[in-house]
Amino acid sequence: MKKRRLFLFTVILAIAIIVGNYHLSVASSVGKETLTMITSPDYPPYEFYETQGSDRKIVGFDIDIANYIRQKLGFKLNIAQSDFNGLIPALQAKRADFVMAGMTPTPERRENIDFSIIYYEAKDTLVALKSSNLRKSEDLAGKIIGVQLGTIQEQNGKQIAETVNIQLKQLNKVSEIVQEIKAGRIDAAIVEDTVALGFVKANSDLEFNVIPSIENASGSAIAFPKGSQLVKPFNDVLQQMKNNGELERLSKKWFSITPTSEVSTSPAPKKDRLNLDFRRIIPDIPFILKGIPLTLLFTLSSVFLGLFWGTALSFFKISGIKPLGWFANIYTSIFRGTPLLLQLSLVYFATPQLTGYDISALQAGILTFTLNSGAYMSETIRGGIQAVDKGQFEAAMSMGVTYWMMMWDVILPQALKNILPALVNETIGLLKDSSLVATIGVVEILRSAQIVGANRYIYFEPLLFAGLIYYVLVMGLSFGASALERKLRRSD
Ligand code: ARG
Repeated sequence: MKKRRLFLFTVILAIAIIVGNYHLSVASSVGKETLTMITSPDYPPYEFYETQGSDRKIVGFDIDIANYIRQKLGFKLNIAQSDFNGLIPALQAKRADFVMAGMTPTPERRENIDFSIIYYEAKDTLVALKSSNLRKSEDLAGKIIGVQLGTIQEQNGKQIAETVNIQLKQLNKVSEIVQEIKAGRIDAAIVEDTVALGFVKANSDLEFNVIPSIENASGSAIAFPKGSQLVKPFNDVLQQMKNNGELERLSKKWFSITPTSEVSTSPAPKKDRLNLDFRRIIPDIPFILKGIPLTLLFTLSSVFLGLFWGTALSFFKISGIKPLGWFANIYTSIFRGTPLLLQLSLVYFATPQLTGYDISALQAGILTFTLNSGAYMSETIRGGIQAVDKGQFEAAMSMGVTYWMMMWDVILPQALKNILPALVNETIGLLKDSSLVATIGVVEILRSAQIVGANRYIYFEPLLFAGLIYYVLVMGLSFGASALERKLRRSD
């Protein structure tokens, strides 16, 4: 028995240490020596993941500017990331000190956040298939137009919709929008010129044309929480960069030779044929594989913690103490009755505001998955305990063993053995659902694959590869579990 406790203790300790190390320390408030910038790295050449080789680095025009400012003002820079529509909430939740994401100052945004001066001017374009002849707003009547969620392009699309009959389709990432055009599900997309250029270079069946009628140009500025002390010093450095030619130099670096030049030159796939070519992702495979430890860490921590929490809940349910029973039942009904994705977003986005603790994405993921799987496991474990032969309870009681000792040493081990298959099911479910944490920015397997897809302007190959990794992991898990089960049966 001692051994088992020691083992559990070691496992928990190991998890705690690993989680502690993975935790990206995010210094939040201004005045600290480290400033956190948050960006949406789906936007080459402004910001995107460098996927060659296995370290995960966000690079681009905005990043170079941020580093220049960092040098001038002498702070340490920490870069966080989320989808574009999560950037302003992140500023408001004080998760970051500033945003650089090719973000355009608009009157609506100015109500909630402050902006620096504009450091780069861009124009909106229409990206469409070459044969489509879609060049200006008037050509768009009756068409479906893709835009990135939460961007000024979405607003401009709405503006066009006031006069021309178009249907807007909002997606999270520009790469997804391009994929939709190629699949023929949307007719065109509104994309900034420099970004459009990269996509069109990589996809020879696409073209882009500046939209003449859109008056608000898409200039980029740095965004800060309202009232931030950083605006002034940042503006001073930006102005310097304008005067001394540094901005000019950086825009030459990123916007004339686009970072897409190394994309394979194989002809772009035709609209209705799927041309898979896995050679295109070979250089990025290490990057995707690096998501595996994170996915495993995440799944195993949630399973272990969930098992403990579930056991506690199941004790509450069978304890006969009414308030505990009620609590456990209501808890279970809530966590089983609402979507996991919703719980995840709530824990991640509401925790800093409610508690002041800046929970990292990984911690928020583990916490949510533990709370959620605890609810499911509590039912399984309760069933397992209640299925243990009544005689066992009586025998133990008559030998004068205390209730808790009996539970821990006699009943639980038998219950666990019986419910092992159900627990394995739960673990497999968690492993696959772990991909949900990609939505709050943890770069696990799925997210890595999406990043590679966005960088290479391809979609299917990285996703299929990610699917293969999940499948292999689940298979490994199943084999391990059957072996364990056989061993337990033998020791009966
Ligand atoms: N300039 C546009 C805006 O502010 C689009 C920016 C999108 N940026 C990104 N990193 N995806 O709405």
